[in-house]
Amino acid sequence: MTTSIADKIQQFYDESSPLWERTWGEHMHHGYYGLNGQHKKDRRQAQIDLIEELLAWAGVNSAQTILDVGCGIGGSTLYLADKFAANAVGITLSPVQARRAGERATEQGIALQEWEHFDRPPTSPAVQFQVTDALATPFPDNYFDFIWSMESGEHMPDKQGFLQECYRLLKPQGTFLMATWCHRGTDNLAGPLTHSEQRHLNQLYQLYHLPYVISLAEYGDIAAEIGFTELSTADWSTQVAFFWQAVVQSALDPQVMAGILQAGSETIKGTVAIALMTTGFQRGLIRYGLLKGSK
Ligand SMILES: C[S@@+](CC[C@H](N)C(=O)[O-])C[C@H]1O[C@@H](n2cnc3c(N)ncnc32)[C@H](O)[C@@H]1O
Repeated sequence: MTTSIADKIQQFYDESSPLWERTWGEHMHHGYYGLNGQHKKDRRQAQIDLIEELLAWAGVNSAQTILDVGCGIGGSTLYLADKFAANAVGITLSPVQARRAGERATEQGIALQEWEHFDRPPTSPAVQFQVTDALATPFPDNYFDFIWSMESGEHMPDKQGFLQECYRLLKPQGTFLMATWCHRGTDNLAGPLTHSEQRHLNQLYQLYHLPYVISLAEYGDIAAEIGFTELSTADWSTQVAFFWQAVVQSALDPQVMAGILQAGSETIKGTVAIALMTTGFQRGLIRYGLLKGSK
């Protein structure tokens, strides 16, 4: 990947993750608000519900060896390792996140394990966190029986390379499950993105350090071309869009505002982007895409 975008992503998450954790907790992803998006609930519960709904949608009810691609501070990694008594590896570009994820494992009493000891079948949950680029990982072929990518695909500058690497790492019969920000489909009556839509996206790209996003249909085509089998996609924009209102409500707290200002320029810009996400969902431009596949 190009050095500059990786550096920007690293800087963004190094800087903003402590504030995010203090304010919004360990999960850095949307929440699930029911099929019609109207089931209002505690924001953190909604984030956990999204994990559970995704697992149910993909039919994943067991796993031994898990890779969490773009793991943040280990919210999903620890949740999944614990739920399935599995070995789980979380990778991120941010050393601050990897370090904090390791601390959180210790706080939760989940063992931290070195890679060379990782081949043993799990008897109890064990995790490790690495600063590793998802486009070029050090792991062996056909290694993980479950690969989870929660809202990291939008950061990948090479979507094909990202899915190709996940395919290489996935065990035959394993499951790859991704939830990612997309733009609306363009192979329909709505046609190509308008200038106004493209401008909207460009602003988001700059603020969240996203190289670009693609449509869910494009992800499906890439995954099929690579060779993923049992492919399914789904659009859960309706189910998750309320999340941004919940974030706005909590950001109005004076203490949170002060924290945002102290955290630095990248975090302030990230906050501005909240409005762009809200209106992006409202105009149908931003879509929340799911893709699952096997090998
Ligand atoms: C929005 S956060 C999601 C964190 C986590 N999945 C969660 O739901 O809490 C995006 C994550 O993707 C990671 N990421 C972005 N590009 C990456 C890359 N090329 N390789 C590895 N991780 C990457 C970031 O470091 C960050 O941890």
